[in-house]
Amino acid sequence: MVYCAHRFLLLFKIRFKMALIPFSSRALSQLAELPEMHQMMRQTCRDYAAKELAPIAATLDKNHTYPAKQILELGAMGVMAVEVPEELGGTGMDYLAYSLAMEEISRGCASTGVVVSVNNSLYIGPILKYGNEEQKKQWITPFTTGEKVGCFALSEPGNGSDAGAASTMAHQDGDEWVLNGTKAWITNSWEASATVVFATTDKALKHKGISAFLVPMPHPGLSLGKKEEKLGIRASSTANIILEDCRIPLGNLLGSRGAGFKIAMQTLDSGRIGIASQALGIAQAALDCAADYAHKRTAFGAPIGKMQAIQFKLADMALAIESARLLTWKAALLKDAKKPFTKEAAMAKLAASEAATFSAHQSIQILGGMGFVTDMPAERHYRDARITEIYEGTSEIQRLVIANQVLKEYQP
Ligand code: CAA
Repeated sequence: MVYCAHRFLLLFKIRFKMALIPFSSRALSQLAELPEMHQMMRQTCRDYAAKELAPIAATLDKNHTYPAKQILELGAMGVMAVEVPEELGGTGMDYLAYSLAMEEISRGCASTGVVVSVNNSLYIGPILKYGNEEQKKQWITPFTTGEKVGCFALSEPGNGSDAGAASTMAHQDGDEWVLNGTKAWITNSWEASATVVFATTDKALKHKGISAFLVPMPHPGLSLGKKEEKLGIRASSTANIILEDCRIPLGNLLGSRGAGFKIAMQTLDSGRIGIASQALGIAQAALDCAADYAHKRTAFGAPIGKMQAIQFKLADMALAIESARLLTWKAALLKDAKKPFTKEAAMAKLAASEAATFSAHQSIQILGGMGFVTDMPAERHYRDARITEIYEGTSEIQRLVIANQVLKEYQP
Protein backbone atom coordinates (compact mmCIF):
# COMPACT_ATOMS: atom_id res chain seq x y z
CA MET A 1 0.00 0.00 0.00
CA VAL A 2 2.76 2.42 1.03
CA TYR A 3 4.66 1.67 -2.18
CA CYS A 4 1.49 2.18 -4.30
CA ALA A 5 0.99 5.62 -2.74
CA HIS A 6 4.59 6.57 -3.61
CA ARG A 7 3.94 5.53 -7.19
CA PHE A 8 0.82 7.67 -7.64
CA LEU A 9 2.50 10.74 -6.20
CA LEU A 10 5.50 10.14 -8.41
CA LEU A 11 3.41 9.75 -11.57
CA PHE A 12 1.36 12.86 -10.92
CA LYS A 13 4.41 15.06 -10.46
CA ILE A 14 6.22 13.52 -13.43
CA ARG A 15 3.39 14.09 -15.93
CA PHE A 16 3.07 17.71 -14.83
CA LYS A 17 6.77 18.54 -14.98
CA MET A 18 7.56 16.63 -18.20
CA ALA A 19 4.94 18.58 -20.09
CA LEU A 20 6.59 21.89 -19.21
CA ILE A 21 10.20 21.26 -20.19
CA PRO A 22 11.46 20.80 -23.80
CA PHE A 23 13.80 17.84 -24.30
CA SER A 24 16.98 19.73 -25.26
CA SER A 25 17.16 21.75 -22.05
CA ARG A 26 15.95 18.77 -20.04
CA ALA A 27 18.77 16.53 -21.34
CA LEU A 28 21.50 18.98 -20.44
CA SER A 29 20.16 19.86 -17.04
CA GLN A 30 19.63 16.19 -16.19
CA LEU A 31 23.35 15.54 -16.51
CA ALA A 32 24.11 18.38 -14.08
CA GLU A 33 21.24 17.94 -11.64
CA LEU A 34 18.37 15.52 -11.87
CA PRO A 35 14.87 17.01 -12.19
CA GLU A 36 12.56 16.55 -9.24
CA MET A 37 10.70 13.59 -10.72
CA HIS A 38 13.89 11.62 -11.28
CA GLN A 39 15.16 12.58 -7.84
CA MET A 40 11.94 11.17 -6.42
CA MET A 41 12.32 7.89 -8.28
CA ARG A 42 15.93 7.68 -7.12
CA GLN A 43 15.13 8.49 -3.49
CA THR A 44 12.14 6.11 -3.35
CA CYS A 45 14.27 3.23 -4.64
CA ARG A 46 17.22 4.23 -2.45
CA ASP A 47 15.05 4.18 0.68
CA TYR A 48 13.46 0.88 -0.31
CA ALA A 49 16.84 -0.73 -1.05
CA ALA A 50 18.36 0.46 2.23
CA LYS A 51 15.38 -0.70 4.30
CA GLU A 52 14.18 -3.83 2.51
CA LEU A 53 17.01 -5.16 0.34
CA ALA A 54 20.43 -4.45 1.88
CA PRO A 55 19.57 -6.16 5.21
CA ILE A 56 18.55 -9.44 3.51
CA ALA A 57 20.90 -9.48 0.50
CA ALA A 58 23.50 -11.69 2.22
CA THR A 59 20.88 -14.26 3.27
CA LEU A 60 19.28 -14.35 -0.17
CA ASP A 61 22.74 -14.84 -1.67
CA LYS A 62 23.75 -17.54 0.81
CA ASN A 63 20.55 -19.56 0.37
CA HIS A 64 20.16 -18.85 -3.36
CA THR A 65 16.64 -17.55 -2.63
CA TYR A 66 14.65 -15.73 -5.31
CA PRO A 67 13.36 -12.43 -3.80
CA ALA A 68 9.69 -13.14 -4.60
CA LYS A 69 8.17 -10.80 -1.98
CA GLN A 70 10.55 -7.97 -2.89
CA ILE A 71 9.81 -8.34 -6.63
CA LEU A 72 6.09 -7.99 -5.86
CA GLU A 73 6.79 -4.85 -3.81
CA LEU A 74 8.92 -3.44 -6.62
CA GLY A 75 6.03 -4.23 -8.97
CA ALA A 76 3.72 -2.19 -6.73
CA MET A 77 6.26 0.65 -6.85
CA GLY A 78 6.17 0.60 -10.66
CA VAL A 79 9.74 -0.63 -11.04
CA MET A 80 9.02 -3.89 -12.92
CA ALA A 81 7.79 -2.05 -16.04
CA VAL A 82 9.20 1.46 -15.81
CA GLU A 83 9.02 2.36 -19.52
CA VAL A 84 5.70 0.64 -20.25
CA PRO A 85 2.80 3.06 -20.87
CA GLU A 86 0.20 3.26 -18.13
CA GLU A 87 -2.57 1.88 -20.37
CA LEU A 88 -0.61 -1.39 -20.53
CA GLY A 89 -0.16 -1.42 -16.75
CA GLY A 90 3.30 0.15 -16.63
CA THR A 91 4.69 3.29 -15.03
CA GLY A 92 5.08 5.35 -18.22
CA MET A 93 8.42 6.86 -17.24
CA ASP A 94 11.62 7.19 -19.26
CA TYR A 95 14.82 5.17 -19.43
CA LEU A 96 16.77 7.59 -17.25
CA ALA A 97 14.26 6.89 -14.48
CA TYR A 98 14.72 3.17 -15.09
CA SER A 99 18.51 3.53 -14.88
CA LEU A 100 18.24 5.39 -11.57
CA ALA A 101 15.90 2.76 -10.15
CA MET A 102 18.20 -0.05 -11.30
CA GLU A 103 21.25 1.53 -9.70
CA GLU A 104 19.59 2.03 -6.33
CA ILE A 105 18.03 -1.45 -6.22
CA SER A 106 21.35 -3.05 -7.15
CA ARG A 107 23.09 -0.98 -4.49
CA GLY A 108 20.96 -2.90 -1.98
CA CYS A 109 20.92 -6.27 -3.74
CA ALA A 110 22.51 -6.95 -7.14
CA SER A 111 20.58 -10.22 -7.59
CA THR A 112 17.27 -8.38 -7.23
CA GLY A 113 18.68 -5.83 -9.67
CA VAL A 114 19.22 -8.37 -12.43
CA VAL A 115 15.72 -9.84 -12.01
CA VAL A 116 14.32 -6.32 -12.49
CA SER A 117 16.66 -5.60 -15.39
CA VAL A 118 15.89 -8.75 -17.39
CA ASN A 119 12.13 -8.24 -16.96
CA ASN A 120 12.25 -4.56 -18.01
CA SER A 121 14.90 -4.50 -20.72
CA LEU A 122 15.32 -7.96 -22.18
CA TYR A 123 11.80 -9.37 -21.89
CA ILE A 124 9.37 -6.43 -22.01
CA GLY A 125 11.68 -4.18 -24.09
CA PRO A 126 11.49 -6.08 -27.42
CA ILE A 127 7.75 -6.78 -27.07
CA LEU A 128 7.06 -3.09 -26.44
CA LYS A 129 9.07 -2.16 -29.54
CA TYR A 130 8.09 -4.94 -31.95
CA GLY A 131 4.89 -6.48 -30.59
CA ASN A 132 1.45 -5.85 -32.13
CA GLU A 133 -1.31 -4.48 -29.87
CA GLU A 134 -2.64 -7.95 -29.03
CA GLN A 135 0.83 -9.25 -28.16
CA LYS A 136 1.53 -6.23 -25.96
CA LYS A 137 -1.66 -6.82 -23.95
CA GLN A 138 -1.09 -10.54 -23.61
CA TRP A 139 2.67 -10.62 -23.03
CA ILE A 140 3.39 -7.32 -21.26
CA THR A 141 0.51 -6.37 -18.97
CA PRO A 142 0.68 -9.45 -16.66
CA PHE A 143 4.43 -8.82 -16.33
CA THR A 144 4.17 -5.29 -14.94
CA THR A 145 3.26 -6.16 -11.35
CA GLY A 146 6.02 -8.54 -10.28
CA GLU A 147 3.61 -11.49 -10.15
CA LYS A 148 5.09 -12.75 -13.40
CA VAL A 149 8.59 -12.22 -14.74
CA GLY A 150 9.99 -12.89 -18.19
CA CYS A 151 13.33 -13.93 -19.63
CA PHE A 152 15.38 -13.67 -22.84
CA ALA A 153 16.79 -16.73 -24.59
CA LEU A 154 19.54 -15.79 -27.04
CA SER A 155 22.81 -17.51 -26.02
CA GLU A 156 23.39 -21.20 -26.65
CA PRO A 157 25.90 -23.72 -25.27
CA GLY A 158 27.91 -23.37 -28.52
CA ASN A 159 27.62 -19.60 -29.02
CA GLY A 160 27.49 -16.66 -26.66
CA SER A 161 29.36 -13.70 -28.11
CA ASP A 162 28.67 -14.86 -31.69
CA ALA A 163 24.93 -14.39 -31.34
CA GLY A 164 24.38 -14.63 -35.11
CA ALA A 165 25.45 -18.29 -35.08
CA ALA A 166 22.21 -19.48 -33.42
CA SER A 167 21.51 -23.14 -34.08
CA THR A 168 18.16 -23.46 -32.31
CA MET A 169 15.78 -24.28 -35.17
CA ALA A 170 12.26 -23.09 -35.89
CA HIS A 171 10.09 -24.59 -38.60
CA GLN A 172 6.49 -24.04 -39.57
CA ASP A 173 4.09 -26.97 -39.30
CA GLY A 174 0.51 -26.06 -40.25
CA ASP A 175 -0.58 -23.21 -38.01
CA GLU A 176 2.27 -23.69 -35.52
CA TRP A 177 5.97 -22.98 -35.13
CA VAL A 178 8.02 -25.92 -33.84
CA LEU A 179 11.18 -25.03 -31.89
CA ASN A 180 14.14 -27.33 -31.23
CA GLY A 181 17.44 -26.52 -29.52
CA THR A 182 19.03 -25.46 -26.25
CA LYS A 183 19.37 -21.92 -24.92
CA ALA A 184 22.02 -21.23 -22.29
CA TRP A 185 22.68 -18.89 -19.35
CA ILE A 186 19.09 -17.72 -19.11
CA THR A 187 18.60 -15.33 -16.19
CA ASN A 188 15.18 -15.63 -14.45
CA SER A 189 14.54 -18.95 -16.22
CA TRP A 190 13.36 -20.86 -13.14
CA GLU A 191 10.78 -18.24 -12.15
CA ALA A 192 9.80 -16.99 -15.62
CA SER A 193 6.27 -17.23 -16.99
CA ALA A 194 7.38 -16.44 -20.55
CA THR A 195 10.46 -16.03 -22.67
CA VAL A 196 11.53 -14.39 -25.91
CA VAL A 197 13.35 -17.14 -27.84
CA PHE A 198 15.67 -16.52 -30.81
CA ALA A 199 15.77 -19.36 -33.35
CA THR A 200 16.72 -19.75 -36.99
CA THR A 201 14.46 -20.92 -39.78
CA ASP A 202 17.46 -21.33 -42.11
CA LYS A 203 20.98 -21.59 -40.73
CA ALA A 204 22.47 -20.94 -44.20
CA LEU A 205 21.08 -17.40 -44.03
CA LYS A 206 23.25 -16.78 -40.90
CA HIS A 207 21.92 -13.83 -38.85
CA LYS A 208 19.24 -13.06 -41.47
CA GLY A 209 17.60 -16.45 -40.76
CA ILE A 210 16.96 -15.66 -37.07
CA SER A 211 13.47 -14.80 -35.80
CA ALA A 212 12.11 -13.99 -32.34
CA PHE A 213 9.31 -16.05 -30.76
CA LEU A 214 7.14 -15.64 -27.68
CA VAL A 215 6.92 -18.82 -25.62
CA PRO A 216 4.87 -19.26 -22.42
CA MET A 217 6.47 -21.02 -19.47
CA PRO A 218 5.89 -23.74 -18.48
CA HIS A 219 4.92 -25.20 -21.85
CA PRO A 220 4.92 -28.67 -23.44
CA GLY A 221 8.27 -29.32 -25.13
CA LEU A 222 10.07 -26.75 -22.97
CA SER A 223 12.14 -27.89 -20.01
CA LEU A 224 14.73 -26.32 -17.73
CA GLY A 225 18.31 -27.38 -17.10
CA LYS A 226 19.88 -27.42 -13.65
CA LYS A 227 20.10 -24.18 -11.71
CA GLU A 228 23.70 -23.04 -12.21
CA GLU A 229 25.89 -22.74 -9.08
CA LYS A 230 27.33 -19.25 -9.54
CA LEU A 231 30.12 -17.07 -8.17
CA GLY A 232 27.70 -14.17 -7.63
CA ILE A 233 24.14 -12.86 -8.14
CA ARG A 234 23.08 -16.12 -6.53
CA ALA A 235 19.55 -15.06 -5.61
CA SER A 236 18.65 -14.94 -9.30
CA SER A 237 18.35 -18.15 -11.28
CA THR A 238 20.41 -19.05 -14.34
CA ALA A 239 19.74 -22.21 -16.35
CA ASN A 240 19.45 -23.71 -19.81
CA ILE A 241 16.10 -23.74 -21.58
CA ILE A 242 15.67 -26.92 -23.62
CA LEU A 243 13.22 -26.93 -26.53
CA GLU A 244 12.13 -30.31 -27.89
CA ASP A 245 9.37 -30.11 -30.49
CA CYS A 246 8.04 -27.12 -28.60
CA ARG A 247 4.92 -25.96 -30.48
CA ILE A 248 3.60 -22.42 -30.38
CA PRO A 249 0.95 -20.65 -32.50
CA LEU A 250 2.10 -18.82 -35.66
CA GLY A 251 0.93 -15.61 -33.99
CA ASN A 252 3.74 -15.91 -31.43
CA LEU A 253 6.30 -14.63 -33.94
CA LEU A 254 7.59 -11.30 -32.62
CA GLY A 255 8.26 -8.77 -35.38
CA SER A 256 8.77 -10.10 -38.89
CA ARG A 257 10.37 -13.36 -39.96
CA GLY A 258 14.17 -12.94 -40.20
CA ALA A 259 14.20 -9.78 -38.05
CA GLY A 260 15.32 -11.65 -34.91
CA PHE A 261 19.00 -10.67 -34.96
CA LYS A 262 18.19 -6.95 -35.24
CA ILE A 263 15.61 -7.33 -32.46
CA ALA A 264 18.24 -9.03 -30.28
CA MET A 265 20.89 -6.39 -30.99
CA GLN A 266 18.56 -3.45 -30.33
CA THR A 267 17.29 -5.14 -27.18
CA LEU A 268 20.85 -5.60 -25.96
CA ASP A 269 21.66 -1.94 -26.68
CA SER A 270 18.95 -1.02 -24.16
CA GLY A 271 19.73 -3.93 -21.84
CA ARG A 272 23.33 -2.75 -21.54
CA ILE A 273 22.14 0.52 -19.97
CA GLY A 274 20.32 -1.60 -17.36
CA ILE A 275 23.43 -3.69 -16.64
CA ALA A 276 25.58 -0.54 -16.54
CA SER A 277 23.16 0.75 -13.89
CA GLN A 278 23.33 -2.52 -11.97
CA ALA A 279 27.15 -2.29 -12.06
CA LEU A 280 26.97 1.31 -10.79
CA GLY A 281 24.86 0.13 -7.86
CA ILE A 282 27.41 -2.57 -6.96
CA ALA A 283 30.30 -0.11 -7.34
CA GLN A 284 28.53 2.47 -5.18
CA ALA A 285 27.78 -0.13 -2.50
CA ALA A 286 31.47 -1.09 -2.48
CA LEU A 287 32.43 2.58 -2.04
CA ASP A 288 29.79 3.04 0.70
CA CYS A 289 31.24 0.10 2.59
CA ALA A 290 34.89 1.17 2.17
CA ALA A 291 34.36 4.85 3.05
CA ASP A 292 32.37 3.96 6.15
CA TYR A 293 35.08 1.53 7.25
CA ALA A 294 37.80 4.14 6.59
CA HIS A 295 36.14 6.42 9.17
CA LYS A 296 35.68 3.73 11.80
CA ARG A 297 38.83 1.62 11.60
CA THR A 298 41.89 2.99 13.33
CA ALA A 299 45.51 1.98 12.70
CA PHE A 300 48.76 3.62 13.75
CA GLY A 301 46.73 5.82 16.12
CA ALA A 302 44.30 7.35 13.57
CA PRO A 303 41.30 6.40 11.42
CA ILE A 304 42.68 4.78 8.25
CA GLY A 305 40.75 7.37 6.18
CA LYS A 306 43.40 9.92 7.30
CA MET A 307 46.05 8.02 5.34
CA GLN A 308 46.80 8.92 1.75
CA ALA A 309 47.13 5.26 0.77
CA ILE A 310 43.44 4.83 1.61
CA GLN A 311 42.36 8.28 0.37
CA PHE A 312 43.83 7.62 -3.09
CA LYS A 313 41.88 4.39 -3.36
CA LEU A 314 38.63 6.12 -2.35
CA ALA A 315 39.30 8.92 -4.85
CA ASP A 316 39.92 6.50 -7.71
CA MET A 317 36.77 4.55 -6.86
CA ALA A 318 34.63 7.71 -6.71
CA LEU A 319 36.10 8.95 -10.01
CA ALA A 320 35.47 5.66 -11.84
CA ILE A 321 31.89 5.52 -10.54
CA GLU A 322 30.98 9.11 -11.34
CA SER A 323 32.44 8.94 -14.87
CA ALA A 324 30.59 5.70 -15.59
CA ARG A 325 27.39 7.19 -14.16
CA LEU A 326 27.56 10.16 -16.53
CA LEU A 327 28.09 7.83 -19.49
CA THR A 328 25.13 5.72 -18.37
CA TRP A 329 22.85 8.73 -17.98
CA LYS A 330 23.96 10.03 -21.39
CA ALA A 331 23.11 6.71 -23.05
CA ALA A 332 19.70 6.70 -21.32
CA LEU A 333 19.00 10.29 -22.37
CA LEU A 334 19.87 9.51 -26.00
CA LYS A 335 17.53 6.52 -25.93
CA ASP A 336 14.78 8.68 -24.42
CA ALA A 337 15.36 11.25 -27.19
CA LYS A 338 15.04 8.44 -29.79
CA LYS A 339 18.58 9.15 -31.02
CA PRO A 340 21.22 6.46 -31.80
CA PHE A 341 22.78 5.14 -28.58
CA THR A 342 24.52 1.85 -29.51
CA LYS A 343 28.01 3.26 -28.91
CA GLU A 344 27.07 5.12 -25.73
CA ALA A 345 25.31 2.07 -24.23
CA ALA A 346 28.40 -0.07 -24.91
CA MET A 347 30.65 2.63 -23.39
CA ALA A 348 28.39 2.85 -20.33
CA LYS A 349 28.34 -0.93 -19.82
CA LEU A 350 32.11 -1.19 -20.29
CA ALA A 351 32.94 1.72 -17.97
CA ALA A 352 30.41 0.81 -15.28
CA SER A 353 31.25 -2.89 -15.14
CA GLU A 354 34.97 -2.12 -14.95
CA ALA A 355 34.22 0.50 -12.25
CA ALA A 356 32.32 -2.20 -10.34
CA THR A 357 35.08 -4.83 -10.45
CA PHE A 358 37.71 -2.18 -9.66
CA SER A 359 35.76 -0.65 -6.77
CA ALA A 360 34.85 -4.03 -5.28
CA HIS A 361 38.52 -5.05 -5.46
CA GLN A 362 39.68 -1.82 -3.80
CA SER A 363 36.98 -2.06 -1.16
CA ILE A 364 38.31 -5.45 -0.02
CA GLN A 365 41.83 -4.02 0.04
CA ILE A 366 40.67 -1.19 2.33
CA LEU A 367 38.80 -3.58 4.62
CA GLY A 368 41.72 -6.05 4.73
CA GLY A 369 40.73 -9.31 6.44
CA MET A 370 37.22 -7.98 7.09
CA GLY A 371 36.77 -7.70 3.33
CA PHE A 372 37.46 -11.39 2.90
CA VAL A 373 34.80 -12.73 5.27
CA THR A 374 31.03 -12.79 4.98
CA ASP A 375 30.48 -10.60 8.09
CA MET A 376 30.78 -7.62 5.72
CA PRO A 377 29.17 -7.18 2.27
CA ALA A 378 32.47 -6.40 0.48
CA GLU A 379 33.13 -10.00 -0.58
CA ARG A 380 29.60 -10.24 -2.06
CA HIS A 381 30.11 -7.00 -4.02
CA TYR A 382 33.34 -8.51 -5.38
CA ARG A 383 31.55 -11.70 -6.48
CA ASP A 384 28.47 -9.89 -7.84
CA ALA A 385 30.54 -7.37 -9.82
CA ARG A 386 32.33 -10.00 -11.89
CA ILE A 387 29.38 -11.02 -14.07
CA THR A 388 28.69 -7.43 -15.17
CA GLU A 389 31.81 -7.69 -17.37
CA ILE A 390 30.38 -10.81 -18.99
CA TYR A 391 26.61 -10.92 -19.46
CA GLU A 392 24.77 -8.89 -22.09
CA GLY A 393 28.05 -8.75 -23.97
CA THR A 394 31.56 -9.15 -22.54
CA SER A 395 33.89 -6.16 -22.13
CA GLU A 396 35.64 -7.38 -25.29
CA ILE A 397 32.34 -7.28 -27.22
CA GLN A 398 31.63 -3.76 -25.90
CA ARG A 399 35.03 -2.64 -27.24
CA LEU A 400 34.17 -4.21 -30.62
CA VAL A 401 30.81 -2.40 -30.71
CA ILE A 402 32.44 0.93 -29.77
CA ALA A 403 35.24 0.51 -32.34
CA ASN A 404 32.72 -0.37 -35.10
CA GLN A 405 30.77 2.80 -34.38
CA VAL A 406 33.93 4.94 -34.20
CA LEU A 407 35.15 3.58 -37.56
CA LYS A 408 31.72 4.34 -39.08
CA GLU A 409 31.97 7.92 -37.80
CA TYR A 410 35.39 8.32 -39.48
CA GLN A 411 34.43 6.62 -42.73
CA PRO A 412 36.19 8.58 -45.53
N1 CAA B 1 21.24 -2.39 -33.73
C1 CAA B 1 20.64 -2.70 -34.91
N2 CAA B 1 21.21 -3.51 -35.80
C2 CAA B 1 22.43 -4.02 -35.54
C3 CAA B 1 23.11 -3.74 -34.34
C4 CAA B 1 22.44 -2.88 -33.41
N3 CAA B 1 23.03 -2.56 -32.25
N4 CAA B 1 24.28 -4.37 -34.33
C5 CAA B 1 24.37 -5.04 -35.50
N5 CAA B 1 23.23 -4.82 -36.21
C6 CAA B 1 22.92 -5.31 -37.57
C7 CAA B 1 23.96 -4.82 -38.59
O1 CAA B 1 23.59 -3.55 -39.10
C8 CAA B 1 23.87 -5.90 -39.64
O2 CAA B 1 22.73 -5.67 -40.43
P1 CAA B 1 22.67 -6.08 -41.99
O3 CAA B 1 22.75 -7.55 -42.05
O4 CAA B 1 21.34 -5.55 -42.44
O5 CAA B 1 23.84 -5.42 -42.66
C9 CAA B 1 23.62 -7.15 -38.83
O6 CAA B 1 23.05 -6.73 -37.59
C10 CAA B 1 24.88 -7.96 -38.54
O7 CAA B 1 25.80 -7.09 -37.92
P2 CAA B 1 27.31 -7.52 -37.64
O8 CAA B 1 27.90 -8.07 -38.91
O9 CAA B 1 28.00 -6.39 -36.98
O10 CAA B 1 27.07 -8.74 -36.64
P3 CAA B 1 28.09 -9.76 -36.01
O11 CAA B 1 27.61 -11.12 -36.28
O12 CAA B 1 29.50 -9.40 -36.39
O13 CAA B 1 27.88 -9.52 -34.41
C11 CAA B 1 28.23 -8.50 -32.28
C12 CAA B 1 28.07 -8.32 -33.82
C13 CAA B 1 28.37 -7.10 -31.73
C14 CAA B 1 29.48 -9.30 -31.95
C15 CAA B 1 26.98 -9.20 -31.71
O14 CAA B 1 26.90 -10.55 -32.10
C16 CAA B 1 26.89 -9.12 -30.21
O15 CAA B 1 26.48 -8.12 -29.64
N6 CAA B 1 27.30 -10.20 -29.51
C17 CAA B 1 27.15 -10.28 -28.05
C18 CAA B 1 25.85 -10.95 -27.71
C19 CAA B 1 25.45 -10.72 -26.28
O16 CAA B 1 25.53 -9.62 -25.77
N7 CAA B 1 24.96 -11.78 -25.64
C20 CAA B 1 24.45 -11.71 -24.32
C21 CAA B 1 23.16 -12.49 -24.25
S1 CAA B 1 21.94 -11.96 -23.11
C22 CAA B 1 22.50 -12.49 -21.61
O17 CAA B 1 23.54 -12.10 -21.20
C23 CAA B 1 21.70 -13.47 -20.82
C24 CAA B 1 20.89 -12.91 -19.72
O18 CAA B 1 19.89 -13.53 -19.40
C25 CAA B 1 21.27 -11.68 -18.97
